[in-house]
Amino acid sequence: MSDSSATHLFLRAANGEKTDRPPVWLMRQAGRILPQYRALRQKFPDFKAFVKTPEAAAEATIQPVDELHVDAAIIFSDILVIPEAMGLDYEMIEAKGPRFPKTIENHQDIAQLRSGAEAAASLEYVYQALRITKKELHGRVPLIGFAGAPWTILAYMVEGGGSKTFSKARKMLYAEPSQAHALLQKITDTTIAYLKQQVAAGADLIQLFDSWAGELAPAHYQTFAIPYLKQICDALPEVPKTIFAKGAWFALEELGQTSCQIIGLDWSTSPQFARQKLGDQKVLQGNLDPCTLYGNADTIRQETIKMVQAFQGRHIVNLGHGVYPDTPLDGVRVFVETIRGMRYEV
Ligand code: CP3
Repeated sequence: MSDSSATHLFLRAANGEKTDRPPVWLMRQAGRILPQYRALRQKFPDFKAFVKTPEAAAEATIQPVDELHVDAAIIFSDILVIPEAMGLDYEMIEAKGPRFPKTIENHQDIAQLRSGAEAAASLEYVYQALRITKKELHGRVPLIGFAGAPWTILAYMVEGGGSKTFSKARKMLYAEPSQAHALLQKITDTTIAYLKQQVAAGADLIQLFDSWAGELAPAHYQTFAIPYLKQICDALPEVPKTIFAKGAWFALEELGQTSCQIIGLDWSTSPQFARQKLGDQKVLQGNLDPCTLYGNADTIRQETIKMVQAFQGRHIVNLGHGVYPDTPLDGVRVFVETIRGMRYEV
């Protein structure tokens, strides 16, 4: 099935053009919500082996396009491939999440990390997955490439995994700010080289995930996050860019000053508030509470329509964070189909 109108819909909306309806996709759509994904995943001893097999990654990327009819594909990979490329290995522990056996503690640890094009060269498997996906999609929908934002990657490298408080990572910003800047710059240089290669391999749009943005004090977000996000956006003029900074409602004005076209919102930020802070400059993406999809079909429809009305155009529909793995597939379908059946009033 070729659906080139959907392709254009997503990219036209990303560029701020008027569309008949908003496009829709879901963060973490390539994953455990789909039985096809779980079957494919079983063929591999672990998550990393899966991510490093380009043909399988391409298959997982396309599954939600076939099954859910979303308007964009996002390459199946993880934000943690960047620390690994820089020399910091991670393990993905089943049902628990990522763990780094070795973490960044001092200046020497930072000095030893690879960075820039040299580090990004080891991620050939991601570029290959993008090339295969692009070919197999036959232009049906655009392909989104992604990376973690520098602050979120630093947080994983210093904490060694997820955290309730991120106090080790935040401590670094107060106790050793010059080390933090050195590490953030190395991550940024690597991310730029990585994303340039993703674009060369066929990514039509890039999203930066700043999952732990909301952990920082506003002044720290200004100092330790925004300058690096700006560098990355400025280095990729060829494609539209989305910044999804979870919990960073306090930084919307500064995010608005970056050269990205799209700002992702989580469900704690109302579209009205975001518009007030951003003006008409950016396209907004989001922001239904992922838990809405546990509701019944009527609830999902009503909440989805209410959300679209609140955004009033210049909007790419998504959830306010990644879809939870145990979300009923029927709930996801109702969400996507509600949007696909919708038309803006002219
Ligand atoms: O569909 C997509 O969005 C594309 C694939 C994708 C994955 N991870 C696959 C994945 C994307 C875009 C990510 C981004 C990612 N990874 C983020 C940013 C988004 C967010 O959620 O805030 C973060 C913080 C990570 C780090 C990460 N990866 C964690 C914390 C975990 C464990 C928790 C979990 O969901 O299991 C992962 C593992 C992971 N990444 C899985 C998938 C499909 C599950 C592992 C499995 O299937 O075995």
